Amino acid sequence: MEQKFVKTHFVEMNLSDVIEQLGEGETKSILSSFTCPLNKDVENFIKHKAIEFSKRTTSKTHLVFWQTEDGEHTELVGYYTVSMKTITISKSVLSANEIRKLTSQGCEHTRAECRFPAPLIAQLGKNYTSGNDTLISGPDLLQMAINKIRNVQKEVGGRFIYLECEDKKELLEFYNGCNFKVFGKRELDKDEDDIQGSYLIQLFAMIS
Ligand SMILES: CC(C)(COP(=O)(O)OP(=O)(O)OC[C@H]1O[C@@H](n2cnc3c(N)ncnc32)[C@H](O)[C@@H]1OP(=O)(O)O)[C@@H](O)C(=O)NCCC(=O)NCCS
Repeated sequence: MEQKFVKTHFVEMNLSDVIEQLGEGETKSILSSFTCPLNKDVENFIKHKAIEFSKRTTSKTHLVFWQTEDGEHTELVGYYTVSMKTITISKSVLSANEIRKLTSQGCEHTRAECRFPAPLIAQLGKNYTSGNDTLISGPDLLQMAINKIRNVQKEVGGRFIYLECEDKKELLEFYNGCNFKVFGKRELDKDEDDIQGSYLIQLFAMIS
């Protein structure tokens, strides 16, 4: 029997543009279908905070859809959220090349630490509803977030990027495999009650 392969691709949409095009009601209804049983913080953020944070420009969320080439089928497969922060990294975890790059981009530094502005990947997760998580891989989703930041940094400068995750072997393996290096720990704020444990591991990567 002849098998028919349907070509597919990913479409990224800034949540602010989705709200503008569809209105807040329809956008909320799309987001309400997102589930992430492995990480309730990822699920609750997209359902209850992402719209408000996008409006306030606290952070910007980007939805990733899987779509067939004919446009007949579209599925929400994941999302990531980016915001701008300032980080301090101990020089002991940086390579000589990384310190050189940071110095040349004008970071504030002492004998022991570098302090500089960097984009934070504040959220990242696949949508587990109806098996949509199988339509995208974690590295592809993370690469989309990195590409987005790389394009912004091409215009405004900067080379570093960071993120924070729960202290779980699976997550640390995932991010280490994608060239992120651990540089510290952050105690949770009181309102971060969807996160397991009392702290988050911080990791950074240099974008080439
Ligand atoms: C993190 C993620 C993007 C990685 O995607 P991926 O590289 O395609 O890998 P998988 O989804 O196959 O996950 C790899 C393994 O890690 C486990 N895992 C993923 N997220 C996990 C989490 N938050 N807690 C515990 N285990 C987790 C998976 O169950 C899987 O375990 P298995 O190999 O025993 O089946 C994806 O797993 C995900 O969306 N996880 C939930 C959201 C999340 O935790 N995001 C990270 C926020 S910092």
